[in-house]
Amino acid sequence: MVKKFYITTPLYYVNASPHIGHSYTTIAADCLARYMRQAIGKDNVWLLTGTDEHGQKIERAAQAEGLNPKEFVDATAVQFKELWKALNIFYNDFIRTTEERHVKTVQRVLEILFEKGQIYPAKYEGWYCTPCETFWMQTQLKDLTCPDCSRSLEKISETNYFFRLSEHQDWLMKYISAHPDFIKPSSRYEEMARFLELNKLEDLCISRPKERMGWGIPLPFSPDHVTYVWFDALINYISAVGSFDDKGKYESQWWPADLHLIGKDILRQHAVYWPIMLYALGLELPKTIFAHGWWMIGQDKMSKSRGNVVNPIDMVNKFGVETYRYFLLRDVPFGLDGSFSEESIIKRFNGDLANDLGNLVYRTLTMIEKYFDGNIPERGVFVKGKQAELIEEKINLINKNGIGLSPSVITDCNFSAALKEVWEIINMANKYIEDTKPWNLIKENKTDELKGFILVLVDAIREVAIQIHSFMPQTSESIIEQLGKDKIKKGKPLFPRIV
Ligand code: MSP
Repeated sequence: MVKKFYITTPLYYVNASPHIGHSYTTIAADCLARYMRQAIGKDNVWLLTGTDEHGQKIERAAQAEGLNPKEFVDATAVQFKELWKALNIFYNDFIRTTEERHVKTVQRVLEILFEKGQIYPAKYEGWYCTPCETFWMQTQLKDLTCPDCSRSLEKISETNYFFRLSEHQDWLMKYISAHPDFIKPSSRYEEMARFLELNKLEDLCISRPKERMGWGIPLPFSPDHVTYVWFDALINYISAVGSFDDKGKYESQWWPADLHLIGKDILRQHAVYWPIMLYALGLELPKTIFAHGWWMIGQDKMSKSRGNVVNPIDMVNKFGVETYRYFLLRDVPFGLDGSFSEESIIKRFNGDLANDLGNLVYRTLTMIEKYFDGNIPERGVFVKGKQAELIEEKINLINKNGIGLSPSVITDCNFSAALKEVWEIINMANKYIEDTKPWNLIKENKTDELKGFILVLVDAIREVAIQIHSFMPQTSESIIEQLGKDKIKKGKPLFPRIV
């Protein structure tokens, strides 16, 4: 097991309000961080999130609202913080790329790389996609639309600064092939390996002339230029947790990151630009980059222009934060795309949460209330049937080996499989109640059997509460509280059915 765990989310653009896609990465990161805090101690885990606040997209969004960029980003960054609070995200640090600690580090990185000859000026001609903030060479284009988003491109000719990506392509390819865990899941690993085999990297344009786009971090060696937003933003992962000394040596308690969680849309920046930047700086690489899939609305991408953007706060108000977190992590394996709909949330709610989990807890507490005056029976030697033994075996196995019967289910971000495993205990316990028919035990005065039966259920519920803690912290705590130590404190049903 690792001794420390440094996990990051992408820095979200503040040009628009947060949507369910943003909340997905952050909830997943929060779940892993909570899990690791339990596993290795809370002081050994660091969860970093934040906002990406420079660049043309944001400058234009500010203009559209008639605000200066700083006023605009101050207002939208707050929305992300509020959302994380509503979603019960427990982060250790929130970095904004407009903060001084970040700006200073970016400028230091630029200086170091410039002195090393890794950054150089050149005349640039090419095509630019403003929404993607990406330059394209003529040779990469079929027509004058962006190969990524199909929107029209702008012709650009100017002097800029370039980072020597191309020089390090061979090194990166070797690195990736020697480190199968560097990019996950394996489909994304293959995608990047193939991309590097089939394409020759070009040097990366890392500046923008101020006269065209002024909202960025000034280059220390050329006051007429600001830094390209991606080059700026990626550096947050080191600027938030350390700094460079006078000699250019980077010191940090947390670096290298153990896990960069990202969406599949920003894999290339993280798996190509970022490792090469770190390598050129002489820094260690993150251990793993995990790129998850996308939430779609039906078959469509979510977008402002389609008018189908889902606001996570609306979902929380409708279904509750615990259900929302559960749904996102349970419904679709983390690496794959999923289709988001309120109907699917309701289905999970009524099935997994109300019928399975909620019912198990409610029924068990009601029996303890009715048969034992609310006191949990004392432990003793009771005759057990096969079903009870199987449940106990399963509890012990999960308790010993982690939720998915192996810790890798969590470190491989296989949230859905982990939850499925926990639900097996729940389903076994519910079936056990139905098969045992406790009211008959009462009729037949089989008190010892009844005690044994209740204790198996109490153990099952307690284990479930522990295991779901990182996914649904409030539900877990509420179950533990209702179960009490010796005497139960029955509350309202956890998940009253949505009809
Ligand atoms: N600012 C850059 C990231 C810089 S990281 C140094 C950026 N920001 S973003 O706000 O556009 O999106 C960030 C992330 O949001 C995506 O990588 C992904 O994690 C998440 N998602 C955005 N839309 C999504 C879906 N529809 N579905 C799932 N997640 C998606 O890119």
